[in-house]
Amino acid sequence: MAKPRNRYVCQACGSEQSRWQGQCPDCAEWNTLAAESAVVTVFSARHDLSTGGRPVELVGLDAEIALPKRLKTGIEEFDRAIGGGIVPGSAMLVGGDPGIGKSTLLLQVAGKLAASGSRVVYVSGEESADQVRLRALRLGLGNAPVQLAAATSVRDILTTVGSGPAPALLVIDSIQTMHSDLIEGAPGTVSQVRASAQELVRFAKERGTAVILVGHVTKDGTIAGPRVLEHMVDTVLGFEGERSHQYRILRAAKNRFGGTDEIGVFAMEGAGLKEVPNPSVLFLTQRSEPVSGTAVFPALEGTRPVLVEIQALVVRLASGATPRRAAVGWDSGRLAMVLAVLEARCGLSFATAEVYLNVAGGYRLADPAADLAVAAALVSALSERPVPQLAVIMGEIALSGEVRPVAHGALRLKEAAKLGFERGWVPAGIDAPSGIATTRFGKLGELVDQILGR
Ligand code: TYD
Ligand code: MG
Repeated sequence: MAKPRNRYVCQACGSEQSRWQGQCPDCAEWNTLAAESAVVTVFSARHDLSTGGRPVELVGLDAEIALPKRLKTGIEEFDRAIGGGIVPGSAMLVGGDPGIGKSTLLLQVAGKLAASGSRVVYVSGEESADQVRLRALRLGLGNAPVQLAAATSVRDILTTVGSGPAPALLVIDSIQTMHSDLIEGAPGTVSQVRASAQELVRFAKERGTAVILVGHVTKDGTIAGPRVLEHMVDTVLGFEGERSHQYRILRAAKNRFGGTDEIGVFAMEGAGLKEVPNPSVLFLTQRSEPVSGTAVFPALEGTRPVLVEIQALVVRLASGATPRRAAVGWDSGRLAMVLAVLEARCGLSFATAEVYLNVAGGYRLADPAADLAVAAALVSALSERPVPQLAVIMGEIALSGEVRPVAHGALRLKEAAKLGFERGWVPAGIDAPSGIATTRFGKLGELVDQILGR
């Protein structure tokens, strides 16, 4: 047997030499060469992954593909949020606070799809079949041919739906109540949620059934159970809204088959969720007199502008107590930033005042383009001078106090003009469509001057 030859590998750069040297000739490091045996052992042969596999077909990006044929549910706001309809064989996760309306939404989706002739199975692990049937009656879906079951064993469910033609849609309400007998543990534990989801997703891919999993949301707003659930499915949807308000928004956080910028808007009514096809003015308060401390921001949801009202309240404190700052529907860190810029660059003082900011109607804003409207509401509240009532305000605020341009400014202004707004307070460099007068601001100080009438 041949004597195994040693090779010398630099531990710093990985280069290989046939004899030992004090300095690596490649990276010039000293004393980094170490002897490593070059023989191929049984162990390394078995662990060398570069041989022994089956060749995989490699194709170019320009190869012909068939676009997935989407299944329209007939609930347009739902179809819009998921990118144009349900993709067969896809797995979706719908998260949301308890009582927000997930079961209602999915029962309506299931009912509508079943009524159009597809096989739809709805499995509830939380409610009895009678409870679901009662809800369906209330939703006017009593006659929809949805196949209903109350079950929690993934094996039972997959055995049942696996016989006969594969359903077009399988709804699992909720994944936290499911258990898989492949592993130990109570339902709702991380490993059970993961194992159950894995089996259900596998079924979806193998049989071409679209699977919708309902997931509960924990207090901090993430879907309970492992984050890995979000990686396993193709689409992650959040159903949001305030329970005390009527409006609900279905929003995709991840979508392998479409964009994540479109939302579906619903109103919770006595007979279930009603679609809101034109949400532009949903979050506005109608009033005849201008009020100080409010400003209207033209938000953009996918291709649809939504006008939202931002309200601010500034309360002067007589005592030396630490003033509170609270924001609802807007990031409190961003509120602190806008306040700091107003103080540092515009000479306004909020130091001894409590500041409250609220986005009306339970809407949540994350767009930095709302900075300028937030600032306008704050300045207006501080000075008790109202912003013109028929004005929309947009612009991102830089720490330097400059007002930065926003995306799709013209589109936002156009929609505002359509709804009767007469004035736009915008950053410089936005093309104004006809029908709306614009005032352009390069610096936040100019906006403050405008509101204070200086
Ligand atoms: P639900 O779908 O059970 O919420 P989730 O599955 O997200 O926990 O919705 C529960 C709430 O919806 C309930 O508090 C009452 C309200 N609701 C209506 O207002 N109208 C209706 O027709 C239905 C079915 C529910
Ligand atoms: Mg439910």
